[in-house]
Amino acid sequence: MNKNQEPIGVMDSGVGGTSTLKTLAKMLPHEDFVFYGDSKNAPYGERSKQAVVHLTNNVFNDLTKHHHIKAFVIACNTATSSAKSELVKMHPNLPIFGIEPALKQAVDNGGQNIAVMATPLTMSLPKYNRQLDKYQSSHRIFSVPCPGLAGLIEGGSKNLPQIKALVHKLLDPLKKYHIDSVVLGCTHYPYIRSIISHEFNDQPAIYTGYDGLARYVGYQLKAKGLAAPKDQKQIIKFTSSNNTPQQIKFYSDMYHGKILK
Ligand code: SIN
Repeated sequence: MNKNQEPIGVMDSGVGGTSTLKTLAKMLPHEDFVFYGDSKNAPYGERSKQAVVHLTNNVFNDLTKHHHIKAFVIACNTATSSAKSELVKMHPNLPIFGIEPALKQAVDNGGQNIAVMATPLTMSLPKYNRQLDKYQSSHRIFSVPCPGLAGLIEGGSKNLPQIKALVHKLLDPLKKYHIDSVVLGCTHYPYIRSIISHEFNDQPAIYTGYDGLARYVGYQLKAKGLAAPKDQKQIIKFTSSNNTPQQIKFYSDMYHGKILK
């Protein structure tokens, strides 16, 4: 197989990265993807940075043991902030992409009172704090660490009542600030977008930044001669550290919008 026909590896701590995968697959319709969720160890966002570096490396090694990939996307804000730079150093010849809270996009679109939701670890690391430093003198930015939320989403629809209660508890204190934009800085949160939006009477613009990521991945693959042939029919595979048929079905069902509706 030619290198450009190989799939793009996409990883997350668990099911959340399938939300990113959806945009990647839609915007890069000839590319194949192999998704790996580390659901055995999810969530990552309340672990130490060192633990997340270790787990992310393990995911990379396990994925590449079984699949040849031409690029790797860390579809997890926590893993990107913790482990991307080290992974890039270890694999200098592989294009590796990550994500960050789409604060810039919210600001560029005119957001003034912006809530950012992410895991406690993402919010404690320099990547996010550099973004905050850049924008917080000119905008009101409310950082909302969301302990427990990704873990509840990982449990699927049975956790809906607890998810709604936790989202309300986290966002209710912000209602008096006329929030106009919400940045979803964790790839699990787009699956509860309507619950989050509902807290603010469906008024704010919601940002994930996935379109920008997909455009950037497409541009880089083209520039490196790695873009898939235009006649390639897209194949998407789901794999997991917890590689049971139920887990794979869960990823596929989330991806296809059948859960947490
Ligand atoms: C988590 O595993 O805690 C959340 C993943 C993310 O930050 O996107």
